[in-house]
Amino acid sequence: MAFRIQTFEEYQEEYRKSVTDPEAFWEDKAKHFTWRKKWDKVLEWNFTQPSVKWFLGGKLNITENCLDRHLDIHGERTAIIWEPNDTKKDKTRYISYAELHDQVCRFANVLIRNGAKKGDRICIYMPMVPESAVAILACARIGAIHSVVFAGFSAHSLIDRIQDSDCSIVITSDGAFRGAKEIPIKDIVDEAVEVCPSVKKIIVLERTGCNIRLTEGRDLLWKDEMKKVTNQCPATETDSEDMLFILYTSGSTGKPKGVVHTVGGYMVFMAYSFTNVFQYPLEPAHSTRPDIYWCTADIGWVTGHSYIIYGPLLCGATTVMFEGIPTWPDAGRFWEVVDKHQVNIFYTAPTAIRSMEAQGLGYVRPYSLDSLRVLGTVGEPINEEAWQWYYENIGKGKCPIVDTWWQTETGGIMISPLAGITPVKPGFATLPLPGIQPVLVNHDGKEITGNGVEGNLCIRFPWPSVIRTTYGDHERCRQNYFATYKELYFTGDGCRRDENGYYRITGRVDDVINVSGHRIGTAEVENAINQHPDIVESAVVGFPHPIKGQGIYAFVICTNSQHDISLLKEEILAVVNKMIGPIAKPDKIQVVGGLPKTRSGKILRRILKKVAEGETSNLGDTSTLLDPSVVDSIRTGAL
Ligand code: PRX
Repeated sequence: MAFRIQTFEEYQEEYRKSVTDPEAFWEDKAKHFTWRKKWDKVLEWNFTQPSVKWFLGGKLNITENCLDRHLDIHGERTAIIWEPNDTKKDKTRYISYAELHDQVCRFANVLIRNGAKKGDRICIYMPMVPESAVAILACARIGAIHSVVFAGFSAHSLIDRIQDSDCSIVITSDGAFRGAKEIPIKDIVDEAVEVCPSVKKIIVLERTGCNIRLTEGRDLLWKDEMKKVTNQCPATETDSEDMLFILYTSGSTGKPKGVVHTVGGYMVFMAYSFTNVFQYPLEPAHSTRPDIYWCTADIGWVTGHSYIIYGPLLCGATTVMFEGIPTWPDAGRFWEVVDKHQVNIFYTAPTAIRSMEAQGLGYVRPYSLDSLRVLGTVGEPINEEAWQWYYENIGKGKCPIVDTWWQTETGGIMISPLAGITPVKPGFATLPLPGIQPVLVNHDGKEITGNGVEGNLCIRFPWPSVIRTTYGDHERCRQNYFATYKELYFTGDGCRRDENGYYRITGRVDDVINVSGHRIGTAEVENAINQHPDIVESAVVGFPHPIKGQGIYAFVICTNSQHDISLLKEEILAVVNKMIGPIAKPDKIQVVGGLPKTRSGKILRRILKKVAEGETSNLGDTSTLLDPSVVDSIRTGAL
């Protein structure tokens, strides 16, 4: 069977095969790639330890598949179209596969010259510039493990991530542009590495030209280093199960987890999911103009890794990388870029759609948007209203919307329509990709069968890009994902399966808030707030937010009753900004006298959630509370 499914009947047939004989199914897909040595065995797994290995004994380098493989036939094809933040200051860049290959080889040599070797962890803290893709692929070229940290995270968050995986090199830039703002990225790195002795070198790309401090012997300029090397860099052979990258993500505990993905399985699944979900041909014909594909995520998140870089490049696609923000210089910026580059496939987050919608159609009307063929969403549930707005005003009623459900831990898209093939339904991620076996369970782990049901979403069988471990702490991986329900991978999401077997993700069922498509653990925000010297305790919950999907509502107990409340709130925001970054700043802060706790000291979050949602009359059973009177005072002070 061909790699790309073309009809719904084919989808059904492929799905059936993927369940009856998963090994034969994936072996067939893996054959489409360049392996230095073929695997000895397709799969070995158990979800108890857990241990999952795909394409055992296979040897390859993923960059040979992203780059070298395409050079003979379409080296001149544009791999990356880079759209700058400010078109008045910078020009669009078009980087061909041949140029990208050249840059990646050179930068891989820079890394080697600076002591990097296979298995080393390298931190990338960079803005949305093509050099970020070069840095990522250069790590992969030499078998080093990249750990990209979103450049909106604070020095404190950066420290946690560098220390957790003992990174030896940090790749960064002097500054970053974001709309009208200029952010001093290198200063943040300087602050972080003071307490990160593992870091021996910092390589700095000059992006904004702002003043930076260079520490002799440690800090090097990208441009100087690139002059010292050649473009000859044979790819290092890696094992299918060698680590490709670590990506930190929030969970229900205070400390972010380093999700680990490995080379072989991740590669096969990224190409497979990309080509099928977006219906982008694997290696489009030489004679035709390839579709222009644009994913608006940041490379600091998994969507950027899988669907700006690896998925598209593995397929020989042209991928747009956008440095700016959707609302600057005005709310028409996305649509301007779509017209400018004649984008055919556009993939973004519901929060961006809602913020565009809020600005009105005046920003959409000046653009034709005729080039669009497929629209996509990711990161959070999309409400029906936003779906319709997107469908009608951006897709002009002719583009299927692929609502793609997946997670950092799943590596790639798990449940989603295949564009133009699976009939869509607003708010529904629809059906699983071949190879993905979703199961709904109740609280006791009992499977809920049939349709028209709701439960906790689990996956029964491994797929090639399932999380392998959490870096440095395998037990945490087991506890978090494989221990809640026996023999199942637990996603942390609630889910409904409708009468037709279509899946709709209803949101997190754990203590994780999804703010503008970003996962934020409540414990992490609480830990940050508690750093304020006058805060004794805090409890954080999510609440529905018209643009962000969920907002952050913090209940705090303050020791000092004299404290000016508005000043206190500002200070709390500053502490959260410092400890995590602007994305975790609470939208609402309520000072309370006490928190609703049970006799055993557990905070009853469901009560706080109801208050945060604006529900003040029916708070459910409060009889188990140590002091039920706190509820009244919380209720009367609700914001
Ligand atoms: O709750 C689900 C939500 O985002 C979570 C994963 O977050 P993260 O690992 O940061 O990855 C985001 C990009 C893949 C999921 O547990 N989520 C993601 N996509 C959807 C979604 N919720 C509903 N519908 C989606 N399409």
